[in-house]
Amino acid sequence: MQGPNWDEGTAYEIKPPRHKAELVEVGRGTPMGELLRRYWHPVGLIADAEGTPRKIRALGEDLVLFRDGQGRAGLVHARCCHRGTTLYYGKVEKRGIRCCYHGWLFDAEGRCLEQPCEPEGGLFRAKVRQPWYPLAERYGLIFAYLGPPAKKPVLPRYECLEVMDDDEFVEADASSLGGGGPPIIPCNWLQHYENVVDPFHVPVLHAAFSGAQFTTAMAAMPHVTFEMSPRGVTVRSTRKLDDGKTLYRITEAAIPTLRVVPNPRVAQFARVESIGWVLPIDDTSFRIYVAGRVKQPGDLGRMRSTFNGKFWWDMSEEEHQRHPGDYEAQVGQGAITIHSEEHFAQSDRGIVMIRRVLQDQLEAIKAGRDPIGLIFDPDAPAVVFEAGNYIRAA
Ligand code: FES
Ligand SMILES: [Fe+2]
Repeated sequence: MQGPNWDEGTAYEIKPPRHKAELVEVGRGTPMGELLRRYWHPVGLIADAEGTPRKIRALGEDLVLFRDGQGRAGLVHARCCHRGTTLYYGKVEKRGIRCCYHGWLFDAEGRCLEQPCEPEGGLFRAKVRQPWYPLAERYGLIFAYLGPPAKKPVLPRYECLEVMDDDEFVEADASSLGGGGPPIIPCNWLQHYENVVDPFHVPVLHAAFSGAQFTTAMAAMPHVTFEMSPRGVTVRSTRKLDDGKTLYRITEAAIPTLRVVPNPRVAQFARVESIGWVLPIDDTSFRIYVAGRVKQPGDLGRMRSTFNGKFWWDMSEEEHQRHPGDYEAQVGQGAITIHSEEHFAQSDRGIVMIRRVLQDQLEAIKAGRDPIGLIFDPDAPAVVFEAGNYIRAA
């Protein structure tokens, strides 16, 4: 009988790296890019739209955000439709944004109002339109719709951000990963989104490696079930607490990029208190916007983790190695992870499911159907999530 060949499995045998382009790439015309463009995405805080133009990059597109003198927020393509300089150097006026090069003035919806170098202020100015996107402001965030105008859904309302106690209000945060890191994370958005349905990394990365980053209860290996929901994937984890009670924790990934994760530090809230949106900036970077119910201004920022008592940005390289967190784990997978080199195990069931749900939505679009989670009725009730931390007697 022949024994195992101990010389096999060297790195020399690795096949050329491949990633699943249809799941990760977000540009216009790509399958995922078109799926993502069917939903509203937060592109900034309400305060980000002001009298000085601000660069926004979303789904691989370079845009400029501003607020005109009448209080209307506008999001336009950065390249001026005249001869292409960037409106980032434009001047915001009462009626819109004026390009620095030849002075064309565009309103918040891209209509050209003035062409000062043209006879009579531009007789044909109605023939050009600066490419623009619709915006909506809610929960402290500015949401944009970058998809086909005829398919524009309503911006959903969420029960967890609508119904609150007397001393609560909604606050928004242009947060980075819960564990800390720069505002722009240099890797593909799906690496982060998959992390939402990966409860098993919590006792390892956030406890064994970093020292119990959340509560000691979260350091225990959970018992987990995964389930498809009408919104995406639901993760139910149970953990036995020291006092014999059970911590029952429900986390949801809601299509396309919503992270509905109850606070891992304390179980003081029953239902989930915040929603995070993963905004793919392009194929190799993303950022996160959060809106949540809080009692004090700045509460969302204060929920950021420390590592060994330090904030992420105060740590040395060696401390990052000794106390890695979500940033290190996800960016460590590479700019775009190599799907051809993955080895899935039982604990990766949530990842398999979220990829399946996304794949199903790509199929729906291909077949001319609407993907899940779109709302077209302006009077539709607020979306209710099941997510939360619940304590049970046994
Ligand atoms: S390039 Fe903008 S007005 Fe000419
Ligand atoms: Fe994590």
